[in-house]
Amino acid sequence: MPTFETVNLTSEKSAVVIEIGSAYTKCGFAGENAPRCIIPSKAKIQDSGEERMINSYRDEEDLYNLLLHFIHYLYFKHLLVSPKDRRVVIVESVLCATNVRETLAKVLFHHYEVLSLFFVPSHLVSLYTLGTSTAVVIDIGFKETVVLPVYEGFTILKAWQAQPLAGEIVERELSKKLKLEHGPGDSDVKEECIQEEVIENIKVRTCFVTTAERAQKLEEIVHPPPVLYGLDGNRYIKVDGKTRESAFESLFTMDADEFSVPTMILDALLKCPVDTRKVLAENLLVIGGTSMAMGMRSRILSELKNLSNSAKYIDLLPIRTFKFHNAPAKGNFVSWLGGSIVGATEMVVSRSLTKDLYQKQKCLPDWVNLAFSNNYELKHKYFSG
Ligand SMILES: Nc1ncnc2c1ncn2[C@@H]1O[C@H](COP(=O)(O)OP(=O)(O)OP(=O)(O)O)[C@@H](O)[C@H]1O
Ligand SMILES: [Mg+2]
Repeated sequence: MPTFETVNLTSEKSAVVIEIGSAYTKCGFAGENAPRCIIPSKAKIQDSGEERMINSYRDEEDLYNLLLHFIHYLYFKHLLVSPKDRRVVIVESVLCATNVRETLAKVLFHHYEVLSLFFVPSHLVSLYTLGTSTAVVIDIGFKETVVLPVYEGFTILKAWQAQPLAGEIVERELSKKLKLEHGPGDSDVKEECIQEEVIENIKVRTCFVTTAERAQKLEEIVHPPPVLYGLDGNRYIKVDGKTRESAFESLFTMDADEFSVPTMILDALLKCPVDTRKVLAENLLVIGGTSMAMGMRSRILSELKNLSNSAKYIDLLPIRTFKFHNAPAKGNFVSWLGGSIVGATEMVVSRSLTKDLYQKQKCLPDWVNLAFSNNYELKHKYFSG
């Protein structure tokens, strides 16, 4: 790909690459192979000392305030560079709300006076880490799973799928189970000890994704041994084998609407043009923090094989081969790494929105804005792969 030939050829200071997820923000410099920090997307309001998640904003003014403090924290605690000297690459979801990206641009341009801003779609840039231009990108993060096929560098937008099947729902189910087991009767562990961070820690450290066969008969099988999770020196929570094995099942058990992570992939394929489906099915890329759970990929693969032979899909989708890519990074920062690669090419110079242009036109390039999607030159400049 000719784009890669320009990596690190620009003589400028390396751009800052930021990806603000609903749970974690990844932030670092373009051209580096990992973010400098992965921190909770939480801002500390200096006057009140209160800590709040970015996506808990009440209105635009509140969001502006949260982002202002959060960006300050990123630059002056983690990156330790002056915002004025560098370009910024924002890795964003294609489903990001317009008011969020506009407020972020306002904070960065008006308050921090950054040189330029370049918004890149997370699904598309994830492919830069592989050097390929065709894949179905499945992002299993915290709030939701988003599936988006990309064919020859073009996002097949009409095929996108998004469902709240990700880390949050897993934690909610796990918390219900643990609270039930360590209810008011348990003298050692009070319910309030089982807080969000503890639940997340238990999920990541002790739970795993079981196989499709075992998931069918969870009540009958012999489960793995329980694990004692230490709260402090004296108290612990006992996480039993069944809880450990069944924690991630909410991503696979189809609810009344018949949605699960594997059905989302098949539904996305069904919405793609017929001649692209086979090659897309053989190029699956699973990213996002929750995709790092042990056993996740092999479970998705076996579910895909079973489902593609089920009554619902057997005639509609005659595809039986599914293959995964191995990204050269941990799941939770694959898209950040894509942004880091793009940020090190000349694209960051030619495609960015500069501070002067922003102050003149007062609007951001956006694929949902007709002024951009109907104008060939603008469309080519900002959106082509
Ligand atoms: N090894 C692991 N096993 C299981 N889950 C993990 C692991 N590492 C991180 N996670 C989970 O991944 C989630 C965070 O993933 P990620 O950073 O991709 O989310 P995000 O980008 O903030 O969210 P979203 O993409 O939904 O906006 C958290 O719920 C975290 O608990
Ligand atoms: Mg994410």
